[in-house]
Amino acid sequence: MNIVVTGGAGFVGSHLCDRLITERHTVICVDNLLTGSKKNIDHLLSHPNFSFLHHDVIQPLPTTIHPDAIFHLASPASPNHHSALSYHALPMETMMVNTQGTHELLKTAEKHKSKFLFASTSEIYGDPLEHPQTEEYRGNCSPTGPRSVYDEAKRFGETLTAYYQRERKVDTRIARIFNTYGPRMLKADMRMIVIFITQALENRPITIFGDGMQTRSLCYVDDTVEGLLRLMTYPATSGEIVNIGSPQEHTVLEYATMIKQITQSKSDIILSEKLPEDDPKRRRPDIGKAKIVLSWEPKISLKNGLSKIVTYFKSSV
Ligand SMILES: NC(=O)c1ccc[n+]([C@@H]2O[C@H](COP(=O)([O-])OP(=O)(O)OC[C@H]3O[C@@H](n4cnc5c(N)ncnc54)[C@H](O)[C@@H]3O)[C@@H](O)[C@H]2O)c1
Repeated sequence: MNIVVTGGAGFVGSHLCDRLITERHTVICVDNLLTGSKKNIDHLLSHPNFSFLHHDVIQPLPTTIHPDAIFHLASPASPNHHSALSYHALPMETMMVNTQGTHELLKTAEKHKSKFLFASTSEIYGDPLEHPQTEEYRGNCSPTGPRSVYDEAKRFGETLTAYYQRERKVDTRIARIFNTYGPRMLKADMRMIVIFITQALENRPITIFGDGMQTRSLCYVDDTVEGLLRLMTYPATSGEIVNIGSPQEHTVLEYATMIKQITQSKSDIILSEKLPEDDPKRRRPDIGKAKIVLSWEPKISLKNGLSKIVTYFKSSV
């Protein structure tokens, strides 16, 4: 297939490009390098089936591109207030790429009868009142809170995608991706796992917001990519909304402890500051639907995944 991956120079997108090239597809990676890096796709640039287009997807795609399928992953994704790459620091860019950008890409999909996948997020569930979250759960989000530039933009991106499916007969699907980790995550993103690994490798204190009892469920990037690929290519996925994430829940304190062990660090683990406003205390996917529709569940153990990302950071520091 001739496949467009928006956000293909980012963390998840670049792994998806790798996988699609391995599967012998032709890949057009479309990215404006806002939060991604050409370094992530350097190794693909000379591949005959791969091309890179420096482009902001808020603008229409060049008319020369006729995709069979579009994976729309472009969007800032880091929630850390202190990161210059977070959606807090890039609010307009985040809102526009998930709304206007999604609309532009859906128009392209309609024109070329392309299959379309929207990369949504567990953040559309907000600070959930149900646990674990099934796809039927409608979420507990603030339309005006600090995270709303991301949550609400993704929610509207879902609305657009569902509208194009329902009324305009475009073949779409929505992946609600939960926290994903792995090589090529950026230090500058300041996502929890990267901060902990960096602190541990430098033997600095590992700092946790709040009491560390808030939980996270982390999925290794290869598993996430497998889920996205199946959602695009498996039969009977048209119009489906599917959670992609790990149901294995651990406290933030447990992650810090595991990373300290794997890195054999001398770091102390320190509980500091209070939780940022709107920080979800628990979030875990119910992946029952992914198991049925995609025969998918994560395969890579947390220990194995953490070892891989630690090795990556050791070699890239
Ligand atoms: N990583 C996670 O844990 C996670 C969790 C839930 C959802 N997601 C979603 O998955 C997608 C990828 O996330 P990621 O972690 O790889 O983030 P990332 O920041 O590493 O990658 C996003 C990519 O999109 C590009 N981009 C942003 N705006 C663009 C625009 N207007 N035009 C073209 N390119 C643009 C960036 O330059 C970057 O390369 C995002 O849509 C994100 O919301 C990720």
